Amino acid sequence: MSRSGIRVRAAVERMRPYNPPLEGRTHKLRLDFNENPIGCSPAVRRALARLSAATISAYPEQETVRRKAARHFGVRPEELLLTNGTDEALSLIVNTFVDPGDTVLLVEPTYAMYRFYAELAGAKIVAPRYDDEMRFTWNDALAELRKAPRVFFLPNPNSPTGNLLTKPELQRILQASKRSMVVIDEAYFEFSGVTVIPWIRRHKNLIVTRTFSKTCGLAGLRLGCIFTNAALAATMRKAQSPYPVNAAALAAAEAAIADRAFIARTVREVKQSRAEFARGLAKLGVKCFPSAGNFVLAYFGGRTKRIVAARARKGILVRDRSSDFGGEGYIRVTLGTPAQTRRLLRELKVIL
Ligand SMILES: Cc1ncc(COP(=O)(O)O)c(C=O)c1O
Repeated sequence: MSRSGIRVRAAVERMRPYNPPLEGRTHKLRLDFNENPIGCSPAVRRALARLSAATISAYPEQETVRRKAARHFGVRPEELLLTNGTDEALSLIVNTFVDPGDTVLLVEPTYAMYRFYAELAGAKIVAPRYDDEMRFTWNDALAELRKAPRVFFLPNPNSPTGNLLTKPELQRILQASKRSMVVIDEAYFEFSGVTVIPWIRRHKNLIVTRTFSKTCGLAGLRLGCIFTNAALAATMRKAQSPYPVNAAALAAAEAAIADRAFIARTVREVKQSRAEFARGLAKLGVKCFPSAGNFVLAYFGGRTKRIVAARARKGILVRDRSSDFGGEGYIRVTLGTPAQTRRLLRELKVIL
């Protein structure tokens, strides 16, 4: 019972508010939420400008785009669900598989929304941790998998740590989790090059998610995908609302996947930035962890708060991830163009 006497679900009462700094980010160099700091394809903006009143005023029809997206990702349309960002995909997965009291496995620190939706569903969360070098802790994870949690959420690469599991390692996880749903979140696939989408027919308990928020730069439009075997996709569709993806996102997706040059440019620039940033931090004596994503996690120790505040004053946003690690010290930086990265490095040099 809440203080007002209105009855709220116990799972919601138990949740702590999730309070990331969501507002006031416009016109800043936003290196804090792993969006695409380069922007989006000009073809996307043209497609949005062409949206007709008839399209905007009708409930969205997604079949044409779903078929085109399926071709783009190399699956059959029946193996793909479009979702309102990966976040809706995660919510749909939890709604489909998790009853109150079921166990959901995560390895933390990781993307916050797995815990969010699992807690909302009243699940029991089991969360071994990455080690101090941000490596996956195999013994703990395999021991928990043997207990058959309902769902195991695993982003590959992981955020904020940046580490990547290889395909043989993912094979090992799937072998150990025959009685659990395994969700491999490939939000950062384009930067890592490792995907298990082709395995969805072989492993009936495998779901892969992708997003248009990173390489395609469509975070503001909210578009994600679920890939799984056709039978399971049909079951999950039953638990999804009829119009999860809006007309603007559908038009943008079509344009975004057609502009392969923009995607290639983003990947090229981010990889160059990643290498330059790691070299720059090494010169400044700052430890950073190897990353396969469009971001890098670095350890600044007791200087963290000062750095984050000083960057914000200069209009550069970076993300203090210290609370993930239970002590001050960790900043995650999103990478965009090498020019943006050099600007940040120059500023860091001054403050350090
Ligand atoms: C691992 C991971 N998955 C998913 C997302 C979010 O994807 P979307 O914008 O499609 O909800 C993020 C965003 O930071 C992420 O780090």
